[in-house]
Amino acid sequence: MTEPDPRAEARDLLTSLGSAVSSEWSAPGRVNLIGEHTDYNDGFVFPFATPHRTHVAVATRDDGRLRVISTFDAVPVEVAIADLDALFPTVDGDHAVPEWSAYPLGVAWALIQATEADPAKLTGADLAFASDVPVGAGLSSSAAIEGATASALNELWGLGLDRVALAQVGRRAENEAVGAPTGIMDQMASMLGEPDAATFLDCRSLQTEEVDLGFAAAGLSLLVMDTNVKHAHSTGGYGERRASCEKGARVMGVPMLRDLAVADLDRAAELLDDVTFRRVRHIVTENQRVLDTVQTLRTSGPRAIGALLDASHVSMRDDFEISVPELDLAVETAVGAGAIGARMTGGGFGGAAIALVETASVEAVARAVEKAFTAAGFAAPTIFPVTPSAGARRDG
Ligand code: GLA
Repeated sequence: MTEPDPRAEARDLLTSLGSAVSSEWSAPGRVNLIGEHTDYNDGFVFPFATPHRTHVAVATRDDGRLRVISTFDAVPVEVAIADLDALFPTVDGDHAVPEWSAYPLGVAWALIQATEADPAKLTGADLAFASDVPVGAGLSSSAAIEGATASALNELWGLGLDRVALAQVGRRAENEAVGAPTGIMDQMASMLGEPDAATFLDCRSLQTEEVDLGFAAAGLSLLVMDTNVKHAHSTGGYGERRASCEKGARVMGVPMLRDLAVADLDRAAELLDDVTFRRVRHIVTENQRVLDTVQTLRTSGPRAIGALLDASHVSMRDDFEISVPELDLAVETAVGAGAIGARMTGGGFGGAAIALVETASVEAVARAVEKAFTAAGFAAPTIFPVTPSAGARRDG
């Protein structure tokens, strides 16, 4: 089998429209090492960029229109730049364009909103996308498409936004054009990632620090175990969790759950109903686990973070209730087969879990999880190692 080459696919797709490639860009998905659902609570997260990337090939046009096409849906979607603000923001998740195209077109709209650029002066473009970031796996294929588009149009339109501003544009597109009420973690990880490091992000100040993970040097690998249970954050559980967090903060009298510490949990138990209390306890303890993970990596190295990963999973399973049986089985089996630590990653309700394992036992852990899935009657998982990689960039 030949390896997929999404950069070449994006180029070929653009050429098939009769357009000549003027630039090529790409942005990665992300794996969150720890810090789940903390981002929209102004808390801490610790994600890294995947080697899987979404590529976009760009051709300029002289008619002020944008045309987007992707290997997922070969029917191009075309709109005049001047008409973008008639399409967005999306009301009640009712997309005026095919949903996938709301990501790149939403980014174009959000860039204009953020910079107050005059649409009449912006160059039109054809944008062709291809990706090897698995969709619905919890690896944020959406942030990858947003990061690639934002980087490409930022330069094409000479907007001069920095990486943090481009991440904010991506989040705005996701929230207001796609209609998914997510935080900013994924876009920041996709814009800022660096090889062999994870991004320690304070979601309140948006200050970041790249922290060396040292996995390879310690003989460790990080496995992604995609359950192939698909999820979408524009519907259902994600928004409900967000609402519970807002309620918890309101009753506790703080602006955001970030403003609570573990020592406040006794008082929270008295004031909150059981469900809201458990949602709050997850966020408060998860923020602390992010800080502890960064500290532990620095003082004791990556082998010492296993217990924090495990505790994070238990908290998501029992308190935040965003796991599913497939994720629990992947985590339990990986740990039973010798993983140093494991947890579900991303928004939950499906998607992927991660396991930190000795590189020598990657195969054994993967086989054990596959076997357990077969025995449980679950669809086969997709298991692969990931190495922290570079953020959004121009490739050509
Ligand atoms: C999704 C969202 C992120 C974050 C995670 C959960 O990936 O896009 O903003 O909230 O879920 O940590």
